[in-house]
Amino acid sequence: MATNITWHPSLSRRERNQLRNQRGLTIWLTGLSASGKSTVATALEQHLLHLGLAAYRLDGDNVRFGLNKDLGFSEKDRNENIRRISEVAKLFADASTIAITSFISPYRADRDLARELHAQTSQDGDEPIPFVEVFVDVPLEVAEQRDPKGLYKKARAGEIKDFTGISAPYEEPANAEITIKTHENTVEECVAQITNWLSAKGYIK
Ligand code: PPS
Repeated sequence: MATNITWHPSLSRRERNQLRNQRGLTIWLTGLSASGKSTVATALEQHLLHLGLAAYRLDGDNVRFGLNKDLGFSEKDRNENIRRISEVAKLFADASTIAITSFISPYRADRDLARELHAQTSQDGDEPIPFVEVFVDVPLEVAEQRDPKGLYKKARAGEIKDFTGISAPYEEPANAEITIKTHENTVEECVAQITNWLSAKGYIK
């Protein structure tokens, strides 16, 4: 824990959003491996960019090549993975960008922590950052059938330990703002479900 540090205030979040003409927020996708998180996140990012909005996707595999390359898949490492991503997403959102995260984020407590971090305000007059949890709700059997990287097969064979859904838990969200089902709807329909929700809330125009 660092000591002797001081928070340096700048424009308030509200002023920054007004100047940028965009509300920053975080869209947090959670779901099993091969549930379709990355596919939907990528399509959503492109859709928002085409609307002229600043959007940026943070993805599990990609972030683990850099920022979080020191972390594995133990419960402790996943906690730290999600804590760091939460802080990074919050920074993007604070900069009036739509941060889209696609991480398994299997533990409810970690996702709740991410939500709490976004709810905190650091300066007078600050508005909290909206945190939109999206449950990519696909049954394990469907994800395992898809198995695009052959990871479920390896996990079943005991070649990967702590594999989510097989030998490590996935705690389903209890109160996600949005639930999408990539085995019942197309990617475009899932994206529309999310953007319709954002429009209805007034988060995007
Ligand atoms: S977590 O649980 O949120 O920290 O995981 P995340 O950072 O999203 O990384 C998930 C991707 O890592 C690959 N992978 C594994 N997933 C789950 N369990 C184990 N043990 C594991 N080992 C490697 C896998 O490709 C995941 O990608 P997705 O896109 O979810 O399939």
